[in-house]
Order: sequence, then C-alpha cells, then structure tokens
Amino acid sequence: MPSPLVRTALPPSTRLEPGEGQLPRLTITNRLGRAEIYLHGAHVTAWQPAGRAPVIWMSGASAWDAGKPIRGGVPICFPWFGPHATEAAAPGHGYARLADWTLVEAVDDEQGATRLAFQLAQPVQSWQLWSHPFVATYRVTVRSTLDLSLEIHNTGAEAFTFEEALHTYFGVQDVREVSISGLEGVDYLDKVGGTARRSQGPDPIRFTGETDRIYLNTQATCTIDDAGTRRRIVVHKTGSDATVVWNPWVAKAKAMRDFGDLEWPGMVCVETCNVNVHAVTLAPGARHTMTATIAVLAP
Ligand code: BG6
Repeated sequence: MPSPLVRTALPPSTRLEPGEGQLPRLTITNRLGRAEIYLHGAHVTAWQPAGRAPVIWMSGASAWDAGKPIRGGVPICFPWFGPHATEAAAPGHGYARLADWTLVEAVDDEQGATRLAFQLAQPVQSWQLWSHPFVATYRVTVRSTLDLSLEIHNTGAEAFTFEEALHTYFGVQDVREVSISGLEGVDYLDKVGGTARRSQGPDPIRFTGETDRIYLNTQATCTIDDAGTRRRIVVHKTGSDATVVWNPWVAKAKAMRDFGDLEWPGMVCVETCNVNVHAVTLAPGARHTMTATIAVLAP
C-alpha cells in the first residue's frame, strides 16, 4: 500500500498497511519489541517489549477517522494543550494529533532496534489559529524500551510560544490498585472541579476518583506500580518540566463518546509535557526537544 506520506524505504522490520478505518498504519516487529504507529497524528497505538504483555492502552471505542483524534496510545498534543486559549471551537490539545505526519526515516540498527522519524510542517486546514512556521520532528525507537522524542524547530522570523504533551495511555489491571511514585512533594494544578493548586505530599499517587492533574516544575522519572499484574512501568523524561496524570473515572468516561463506559479502570495517563506555566518560548531558528523513554520492569 504506497502512501505519499512515506518518503523513505521501509526496513525489514516495518510494514505499511491499512489499519483501522483504512488509515495507514506502520507495524514494526523486531527481535526486541513490537509497535504500531498511524501516520494520522504519528500516533503510537501499540508497543510491547518482546515476550511481554502490551504496555500501551487503546480504547475499544476509539474513532478511526482522519478528522478525529485516536483515543488511547500516544496522542501528540501541540501547539496547545487542552482547550484553545481563546477559540472554543478549536480542536482540544492542538492540531498535531489530527494531522497527517510524513515518515522521513526508518532504519533497523545494528542493535536490533527500529528507528523511525516523522515530520509535520505543512499547515493543515484550520491552521489559521497558529500561523508560526515550524518543523516538528518526532522520533520513535522501537526496542525493549519505547523511546519518543519530539523536536520543535522555529523556522520563522519571530519567536513563538507553544505547549506540548506526549499524552501516553498505559494499560493497568485496575487503576484503583495502582500507585505512581516520583512526584512526591511536587505541587500540582488540580483540574477536577476548577483549578486549585495543591501539593502531592509525601505519598505516591493513588486513585480514588476522577484525576486530572498538572504536576509543575518536575523533571522526575515516574514509576507506575500496577499491583494487579505486579508490573512496573517506568517513564523517564528529558526536556520536560511538567507531568500530567489523568484518569476520567465513571462519569467522565460515560460522557466521552470515544471512551467505553467501563474502560476507565484499565488505563492511566502519565504525560510527559510542557504545559501551562511551562509553555516553551522558541526564538527564531531555535529548537526544543522533549523525550520520554518507557521501560517495563517485569514482576
Ligand atoms: C488530559 C487532560 O491530558 O486529557 C484532560 O488533562 C482531558 O483534561 C484529557 O480530559 C483527554 O482529552 P481529550 O481531548 O483527548 O478528550
């Protein structure tokens, strides 16, 4: 299935095929791991290290439509996070997850990993809300870890400010038995029922209701401890000063069309990001890179 979005030869590990909703999908299988990535949004929808269970969560109710975001996986939020500051009709979390990205590089390296690079530069339909020229390069390395790197290059003549997130959905057995460590003592903006500033205090995060938090001024590695499976997922990051933690719980899950009513216990989002007060300002010609490395510690 040739696609104008694929501008490089594919290595032996990688196949391009019609995925859900006939959207072009890359399937990568090497001796270290397996992944699926849609060109729509450069969206990773699956990853598992060889011999281990899937790590990334997908909703069974996701839309698979070029005009809609995919629910689950790793949506790329850019150039804003959440609702647009002034335009209520603008797409939530920006355009990047709605845009077609171009595959510009795909190689199997000598260590057995597959390295892919995607680019987004073309304005899309409703790009008028964001007129700054840029090139976004998203590098994904599939191996026994999943390595993600998002570089934003200001190719214009003026500075601009953006928000970004790698909005990663992780599969867990039951979020009510999950704890997340690494953010102890960190202040956060609690977005449930308004926006209040609170402190995490000395304990790991536990989930007892809807959770939607922006942890501020933190470069910490987070560990998701899934008591149900005794699996630990480690998210290490660079170039990121905030971490969002999200689970919609009962009512919000019901209210979302593309999220199954009963799916919420099986997922948690830990999002490597620069949002809110940590939005990034880029001078003309400057580049900014944010990375997330996801590893699984076996029980
Ligand atoms: C989280 C936000 O990152 O994403 C939440 O903090 C939001 O407020 C959630 O509800 C899902 O967003 P969306 O646009 O994919 O439904």
